[in-house]
Amino acid sequence: MPRADWRGQRVLVSAGPTQEALDPVRFLSNRSSGKMGYAVAEAARDRGAEVVLVTGPTALPPPAGMAVVTVTTAQEMADALSQRFAWATVVVMAAAVADFRPTEPARQKIKKQGQSRLSLELEPAPDILAMLSAMRTSQLLIGFAAETEDLVPHAQAKLLAKGLDLIVANDVTRVGAGFGSDDNAAVVLSRTGPPREFGLMPKRRLADELLTAALELARA
Ligand code: C5P
Repeated sequence: MPRADWRGQRVLVSAGPTQEALDPVRFLSNRSSGKMGYAVAEAARDRGAEVVLVTGPTALPPPAGMAVVTVTTAQEMADALSQRFAWATVVVMAAAVADFRPTEPARQKIKKQGQSRLSLELEPAPDILAMLSAMRTSQLLIGFAAETEDLVPHAQAKLLAKGLDLIVANDVTRVGAGFGSDDNAAVVLSRTGPPREFGLMPKRRLADELLTAALELARA
């Protein structure tokens, strides 16, 4: 008998990388596969929630039983999420959004002829979580922190800086976990309770653990 403990919740999930154009044929992006966000969206759906998945470009098939909105840039992701934010009771921001983007993408393909060096000028991309956090009415806000060092202190700082309820911190340098992998290990931090550590497990199981922790917080 499947659990239906998320029935009545409206869950907005972001997943995957963003792509920021350098010129008409090139972009800046990152190694996110989208698997963790898709696992959260599927777990919430299977537990009875209504789900909208906003996804950057990934190789994953669109999950059934939810609305899927595909976007490319951080700006498009920010727009898609802010349009649906008022509808949501819970927002899970698993996407690996660009922190910086080219200030002005070249209109024509950048040529290598005659250049011994090429500098790119970048500007900050919109910080979506900070923006959503400022728009918040009663939504539970959950973020992710992919770190390569000092996992817990960095994640704790993001939890506070972005005004989140929960943050899932994972060490992306750990073998068998993180980007592209089917498994993940994480520490889940909240503003109130102690950190919870989850050892290496399938992303889908970690997604279920996260939803259970979020529901406890929503009911507290
Ligand atoms: O990139 P960073 O580790 O700071 O990401 C932490 C959280 O902030 C993630 O949940 C990510 O989805 C979110 N984020 C965002 N907008 C950005 C960068 C990150 O919402 N421009």
